[in-house]
Amino acid sequence: MSAAPSNPVHPGDPVLVDRYTAGARINHWITATSLVLLGLSGLALFHPSLYFLTGLFGGGQWTRTIHPWIGVVLFFGFCGLFLRFWRLNLWTRQDTVWMRRLTDVIANRESEHEELVEIGKYNAGQKVVFWAMCLLIVVLISSGLVIWDQYFAEYTTLGQKQVAILVHSLGAVTIICVWIVHVYAAIWVRGTIRGMTRGSVTGGWAWRHHRKWLRDLVSGKPKDRNPNATPAG
Ligand code: HEM
Repeated sequence: MSAAPSNPVHPGDPVLVDRYTAGARINHWITATSLVLLGLSGLALFHPSLYFLTGLFGGGQWTRTIHPWIGVVLFFGFCGLFLRFWRLNLWTRQDTVWMRRLTDVIANRESEHEELVEIGKYNAGQKVVFWAMCLLIVVLISSGLVIWDQYFAEYTTLGQKQVAILVHSLGAVTIICVWIVHVYAAIWVRGTIRGMTRGSVTGGWAWRHHRKWLRDLVSGKPKDRNPNATPAG
């Protein structure tokens, strides 16, 4: 934890808590950019009405050539995020309670579950998004390889390609929906974005949304389930 960098420090300055290292942020934004570019180039190839998007990539041929390579960047970028964050996204009993509370909040039955759930670095919703991204990226890269004719045409049959195109399209639509949920949640919970841009969040944000994570940081306890990690993952 550190005080805000302004000088001199006065009582109004918020306490800042490190959340992400520079390496994690660079890794995240490379992955995020590649998903956006992948979505745009994929949509350009998906339907004639979206063909105009090929203009962003230098025309139809370039879009076809570049799209799978952006997929490779996304895959390896996400592998980096996976290695950094998978332990923190393991499901716990508190996550089940959190999920039950969420459905109760949505169904207007919040008062039925009054237990206070203290959240670690990620809440159950973030964990669901994380594992959905993992699954969908594996589905997309494997179905994508089957239809990457430039290199693999001779290894696959027409029938396999037809199935792969269907799976690839469904996977793409689903990951775009998951991405929208991820970005919406990041914007909706005020103060979250700065964690991924500047690397730190305010103490108030951490107390409000990830109290267990904050308590563990303050007490010097190792990060959830990862005894070798530094506070900012
Ligand atoms: C382009 C728009 C995106 C924005 C604005 C965005 C924003 C954020 C923010 C603010 C966080 C920090 C959340 C927190 O600390 O509680 C985060 C975490 C994360 N983001 Fe993104 N993100 C974007 C795209 C993506 C994409 C495309 C992926 C992967 C395909 C991704 C994967 C992750 C992962 C794995 C984490 C760590 C959270 C976890 O492990 O559960 N993000 N993102």
